[in-house]
Amino acid sequence: MKRVYNFSAGPATLPESVLRRIQAECLDVNHTGMSVMEMSHRSIPFESILDKTKQDLIEIMNIPSNYEVLFLQGGASLQFTMIPMNLFKNSKTMDLIHTGVWSQKALEEASLFGKVNIIASSESSNFTELPKEFNVNPDSDYLHYVSNNTVYCTQFKNSPVTHPVLVCDMSSDICSKPIDVSQYGLIFAGAQKNLGIAGLTIVIIRKDLLDTKSLKLPKMLDYSVYAKNNSLYNTPSSFSIYVSGLVLEWIKEMGGLVKLEELNNSKANLLYNAIDHSKLFKNIINKVDRSVMNVMFTTGSEDLDNQFIEYAEEQDCVGLRGHRITKGCRASLYNAMSMDGVLALIQCMNDFENIIIKENTHV
Ligand SMILES: Cc1ncc(COP(=O)(O)O)c(C=O)c1O
Repeated sequence: MKRVYNFSAGPATLPESVLRRIQAECLDVNHTGMSVMEMSHRSIPFESILDKTKQDLIEIMNIPSNYEVLFLQGGASLQFTMIPMNLFKNSKTMDLIHTGVWSQKALEEASLFGKVNIIASSESSNFTELPKEFNVNPDSDYLHYVSNNTVYCTQFKNSPVTHPVLVCDMSSDICSKPIDVSQYGLIFAGAQKNLGIAGLTIVIIRKDLLDTKSLKLPKMLDYSVYAKNNSLYNTPSSFSIYVSGLVLEWIKEMGGLVKLEELNNSKANLLYNAIDHSKLFKNIINKVDRSVMNVMFTTGSEDLDNQFIEYAEEQDCVGLRGHRITKGCRASLYNAMSMDGVLALIQCMNDFENIIIKENTHV
């Protein structure tokens, strides 16, 4: 059996102990004599898996009791549609901080239901930095921003604004560090980066926002229906919920979000430091806005970047190809990426750099 260091932006690497547990429980989970994949979602054993997953998330993120945790499907992308459907009420206006691909998608979907005010944008700098000034309109129904921009590799280290209904797309940095949930009206994230596998979208919503919608909604698009039914209105993505439960147990074993934040910062600092000292690789993101989760780097030549990606694959460092928009290389350092993985990547970068320098001095 071979395990590689997988730097994919998502679906992404999982803790090996979680994979081993899935393997061990595949024929018999919790002494039920069956796998979670075969279990009725209305059974007591499944409901206890779902409830424990929810409770562990509440404990780990310190989610206050006036919030509801929902387990949905449709990816984080369906939230671009569900959020305006559920949260537009008085002004039918949403404030948006535009920082790249994911805020653009939120903009397009919300525009189907109301008006979008772009209150700050970094488009003019090609999203290589984050906006610093915001013209918040407190009368808008909500304000949407993306905490970590997976494609452009920038990250708001703290919430940049306040708003009575602050909505945050935390798809690529949820549970990577402690946050104050009470600042938010709604937090959402696909599970497949920091919290498990594809198929599950987590929504954390302040309870007073469950029933404020002005539209008559189909049941499957209405947060209050999921809240009333403990996310069991229909068959949920049961296997994905189970895997997230295991990942949350692993987070507790790792010492919780405080410890993970320390580890994540150390991993990212090490890699950025290596890039900043490299004669071959560079990072073009404004330093204070660099993401701890997704690190972009390039040699400046598409051909050399491709050569490096191939070289790294030979050394078992995979998933480094940059997004098709930004190109170059991207290393995703989510919770489950080990320090050993980051050290292996840095070694690869150093070795490749030496090979290229040697080749060039011989020419
Ligand atoms: C920040 C962010 N938001 C939303 C999405 C969309 O997620 P999904 O593919 O689960 O719809 C992604 C996917 O990578 C993302 O990184």
